[in-house]
Amino acid sequence: MGSLKLFPSFSLSVSPATNLRRPLNNGRVNASLNMDVEAPNPLKLKSNGSNEVIEKDAKFIVGTYARAPVVLSSGKGCKLYDPEGREFLDCAAGIAVNALGHGDPDWLRAVTEQASILTHVSNAYYSIPQAELAERLVGNSFADRVFFTNSGTEANEAAIKFSRKFQRFIHPDNKQPATEFISFTNSFHGRTMGALALTSKEHYRSPFEPVMPGVTFLEYGNIQAAIDLIRNGMIAAVFVEPVQGEGGIYSATKEFLQALRSACDDAGSLLVFDEVQCGLGRTGYLWAHEAYGVFPDMMTLAKPLAGGLPIGATLVSERVASAIAHGDHGSTFAASRRKVIT
Ligand SMILES: Cc1ncc(COP(=O)(O)O)c(C=O)c1O
Repeated sequence: MGSLKLFPSFSLSVSPATNLRRPLNNGRVNASLNMDVEAPNPLKLKSNGSNEVIEKDAKFIVGTYARAPVVLSSGKGCKLYDPEGREFLDCAAGIAVNALGHGDPDWLRAVTEQASILTHVSNAYYSIPQAELAERLVGNSFADRVFFTNSGTEANEAAIKFSRKFQRFIHPDNKQPATEFISFTNSFHGRTMGALALTSKEHYRSPFEPVMPGVTFLEYGNIQAAIDLIRNGMIAAVFVEPVQGEGGIYSATKEFLQALRSACDDAGSLLVFDEVQCGLGRTGYLWAHEAYGVFPDMMTLAKPLAGGLPIGATLVSERVASAIAHGDHGSTFAASRRKVIT
């Protein structure tokens, strides 16, 4: 498995990084990957100074982000620069997004080629790059089909909807098919209303309640609690990150994922692996779950999948896909033109 070209990135919170600032070496720095990088000449930069940008941001942008006081205006490889030409080492890669670094030549070629061929087509038509990327993902995973989205949270929204539709589809005569979900402590699945309902930290959810009902949070790793709840027959799907990203790097045990798999199989619940953060090479395997030898019914992806362009994907088995019909779900933009970068 795993022939995609991937470079692991690291999930570190960005700090002002004053200690990373150092005088430019005559405007020239040696970056990793044996690549020489020219620091930008601040005199040529069109951008206003950092202070002006920070003031404008404070005035015109809704204050959802506690940003570090750094304006990043250009980058190359693993280096970033502010409008004054100060240099930073990019240890965060967005939030685990820029797996190929900044301005990777293959990525640039793919993006500019595609942009010059076709700007956008809606999902009402067939798209060559979309079909090629789906084939590539299916060829390198447990999955049989792919649904594309614009982000990780939307990939999880799709998995939520597919789970409920699946339960209705396979139990057409059941007036109360399974509609509930299990999620785990310390989990993060996104900020849209369904994915938010699956996200454990209360302070993310409480200002927006009521969120989607029917979610039970169990202790991450607690096998018995999970088995007991899955057995009640009301669980449409169990959402779990094989390696949790938010608030620390917590890995599942093999026994835990195996127990979830067999309890779901016995009860007819679906098992969803959220690999938005831990997938796509970050554990050394293409998919984090490969290390455990346990496979899901659905897997959600995003972050580095397009090396910096917004994309997400919900990978599903044929059994799940067979429950989904035309019109059940959709998106205006999702993967409307994504060149496969190999
Ligand atoms: C495990 C996990 N799932 C879902 C998401 C949501 O992804 P996005 O921010 O692209 O909506 C994240 C984001 O950090 C994540 O870490």
